[in-house]
Amino acid sequence: MIIGIPKTTEAGEHRVSMTPDVVARLTKENHEVVVESGAGEAAGFIDDAYVAVGASIGDAARAWSADVVCSVEYPSDQGLANLKSGAVLLGMLQPLDAPARLTALARTGVTSMAFEIVPRTTRAQSMDVLSSQATVAGYQAVLLAAEKLDKFFPMLTTAAGTIAPSKVLILGAGVAGLMSIATARRLGAVVSAFDVRAEAAEQVESLGAKFVSIDMEQQDSSATGGYAKEVAKDTQSKILAGLAKPVAEADVVITTAQIPGRPAPLLITRQMVEAMRPGALVIDLAAPTGGNCELTQAGTTVVHSNVSIIGPTNLPSMAAGDASRMYGRNALALMKLVLSEDGVNVNFEDDIIEGSVVTHGGAVVHPRVKALLDGGGN
Ligand code: NAI
Repeated sequence: MIIGIPKTTEAGEHRVSMTPDVVARLTKENHEVVVESGAGEAAGFIDDAYVAVGASIGDAARAWSADVVCSVEYPSDQGLANLKSGAVLLGMLQPLDAPARLTALARTGVTSMAFEIVPRTTRAQSMDVLSSQATVAGYQAVLLAAEKLDKFFPMLTTAAGTIAPSKVLILGAGVAGLMSIATARRLGAVVSAFDVRAEAAEQVESLGAKFVSIDMEQQDSSATGGYAKEVAKDTQSKILAGLAKPVAEADVVITTAQIPGRPAPLLITRQMVEAMRPGALVIDLAAPTGGNCELTQAGTTVVHSNVSIIGPTNLPSMAAGDASRMYGRNALALMKLVLSEDGVNVNFEDDIIEGSVVTHGGAVVHPRVKALLDGGGN
């Protein structure tokens, strides 16, 4: 089986889909791995490191025309032109956030599997790219805040007097939010957090942060795969009212709240930003899906009433080495489901495969993505 690892082309994307340690496991099983020249360079993995574990280095056309292609992002135009009908493509294809372009992918005849929709079951945990990359994002968000903030995170008692610790508020305590809590605590900040899911309170407190309790109907996410749902209007008003004081008191607010396939929920209004202290920061990890702050602009920093609202779009890429290591291990676990001795075997009876395949046999086949396309897409 030939496995292709193309180089990313999107601006600011430094990750590679498989690192040499992962490639070594494939070559050991006698698969031929073709790495596009320079694919790992921005993440710290030079071509020679891949050659040392038995891969060959080729151009983009060779990597994209493999039997199984492992990508970080949606294919480039060259990728689309070179994908082989009947091949398997794995990648972060944004099936829920950008479904319209998947019809072009379907036309290539490739069977594409999107990491964003891999079912979050126990068996699929090792394939959970959303979690691994959210872990990196949550960590990087805190480092970004610590670098930009005009204050120390920890309390310091020095000859120049005592410095109070920074107050960090995390909104959305999923994978990224919990990692942000742990990282901010390690740096010595006083941390509090909020989430709509009932089970989040215990997780927040177990990391040594205070849960912001709001008198509202909390969500039981056990029936929705762990994901939150959009809240009703009156709950939304209660959330905004309940967050007003903690946001105003924070030096840093890191927001991570997401509803899969929907615009990010609004948690910080313009008025709430205006009540923050000059020099405070909002780091909005939901920027790519509209942002949790009314003033967020994806990919840039907005300064409003002396508060900086930073809207990063690819924090995992800022720690590209470990982000790629984790991505590659997740990708290998998913890839193993379709690799067989006599070629690729896409068995739709496997719930993970069934749940992750977006295009197959020339068409978009995933019911949720099809529904989005029928409704005009987004
Ligand atoms: P996500 O990225 O979809 O959202 C981030 C967080 O925002 C979530 O905790 C969500 O509850 C919260 N949120 C949504 N709307 C909000 C609002 N209006 N106000 C405040 N917070 C809001 O979520 P992520 O990080 O992917 O995790 C979602 C769930 O999936 C978690 O319960 C996590 O434990 C679970 N999970 C399960 C896995 C498994 O079973 N294999 C693997 C990874 C995560």
